[in-house]
Amino acid sequence: MAANSPRLTCSLCHRKIKVDSQYDMPIYDPNSGFAICNSCIREVNRVLDEHDAHSENSKKKDFATSLGEIIAKNKPHIIKQYLDEYIIEQERAKKIISVAVYNHYKRMKYLTENSGTGEPDLEKSNVIMMGPTGCGKNALLSHLSRLLDIPFAVTDASSLTEAGFVGADVEVAVRNLYYAAGRDIKKTERGIIYLDEFDKIARKSGANNSITADPGHEGVQQGLLKMLEGSLVEFTERGQRKHPEAPTIKVDTTNILFIVGGAFVGIEKIVAKRVKSGEVSIGFGAEVQTKQDTDKEFNELIHQVRPEDLMEYGIIPEIVGRLPVICTLESLDENALLRILTEPKNAPVTQYQKLMAMDHVQLEFEEGALRAIAKKAIERKTGARSLRGIIEDVMLDLMFDIPKDNSPRKIVVTEACITEGASPEVIEIPLPAAG
Ligand SMILES: Nc1ncnc2c1ncn2[C@@H]1O[C@H](COP(=O)(O)OP(=O)(O)O)[C@@H](O)[C@H]1O
Ligand SMILES: [Mg+2]
Repeated sequence: MAANSPRLTCSLCHRKIKVDSQYDMPIYDPNSGFAICNSCIREVNRVLDEHDAHSENSKKKDFATSLGEIIAKNKPHIIKQYLDEYIIEQERAKKIISVAVYNHYKRMKYLTENSGTGEPDLEKSNVIMMGPTGCGKNALLSHLSRLLDIPFAVTDASSLTEAGFVGADVEVAVRNLYYAAGRDIKKTERGIIYLDEFDKIARKSGANNSITADPGHEGVQQGLLKMLEGSLVEFTERGQRKHPEAPTIKVDTTNILFIVGGAFVGIEKIVAKRVKSGEVSIGFGAEVQTKQDTDKEFNELIHQVRPEDLMEYGIIPEIVGRLPVICTLESLDENALLRILTEPKNAPVTQYQKLMAMDHVQLEFEEGALRAIAKKAIERKTGARSLRGIIEDVMLDLMFDIPKDNSPRKIVVTEACITEGASPEVIEIPLPAAG
């Protein structure tokens, strides 16, 4: 081709192009005569390289600046104030999490500014959260991630298996975050991973032992340890089988904040044993204990959990060492549940009122009804988790019947609706007379 085009001119610099073979002409269109000489190609390359290097630098600067803004906007007391709008009680947990997240951002800023300067690293402050079912662990974290506008993904640790076993490998936790980050690797690398049900992967030889065999729980912990320490994790896209040629995504977990959590049923007994061996126990072994007594005792003990108790529970020491922040949540009493019904910004009662208002219904709950709902939830022993279900049960027939016609009504849920299954009172609101 080049041999047939002896008199070419570079379309950019208009110099004559000397062509000895077709390899001398990387850019040439014989139809239009468009051609670019090699020296112009080299020049364009150089300019592009410079441009790329510059934008890479400014991206780094952008990140450092945006971290500065995040830090200024998210001081611990501000984070907590926001959490207070959604999470009732759990004052200590809200404080601990607010500080942990704030420190996490400061650490990232420090690393961005000091990487390669020989300054010692700041250690990561991964968090372990524990507290009974339905006390607000997930709720707290999901509100936090909304505030921070950073990707957040929950992975059930009990679904993970050691590499080579049937089930999900530990990398799935990072893959879930990658999808939560809209498949943006940079965003993924600054997100929060919540490993739920973490207590379920405790070593069975720990104090919480059972007779069942240990299906590689320690192997799962070992796998997770690498991610907690900060490593390059490799995984395939969802739905892709793992095979040598499958393209992989690589994510560096150094700046990912790991929060692990679970109910850790029975850990208070380990604490009690330790505390008791030192001094007189707090009420343990008393003859008759009311629900309030056991709750109070549980709450006192759970706040005293120490790393050695976690090891006793069956978490390997290396992992315990990587979870420096212990965040404990209390079991919620009737009064707390009562507040949860109406006080948070997204309180269940408010939500049902909004739903019903769309059908021209003014929904009211009598004080006695709210207390009965809280009492019933306490009986179900799943913390705040059952509140919504209890209301749903009462509201079902109404939510089915009301939309049949559009007349404005007021509906009152009474105590009897909760305790005896009575129907809520429906009061027609007369339309203002026309004219
Ligand atoms: N302290 C709390 N304040 C407000 N709502 C709560 C609280 N604890 C639980 N809830 C509500 O109860 C439900 C279950 O809570 P969740 O956070 O999933 O519990 P868990 O501690 O088991 O993760 C959620 O809808 C949540 O909004
Ligand atoms: Mg949970």
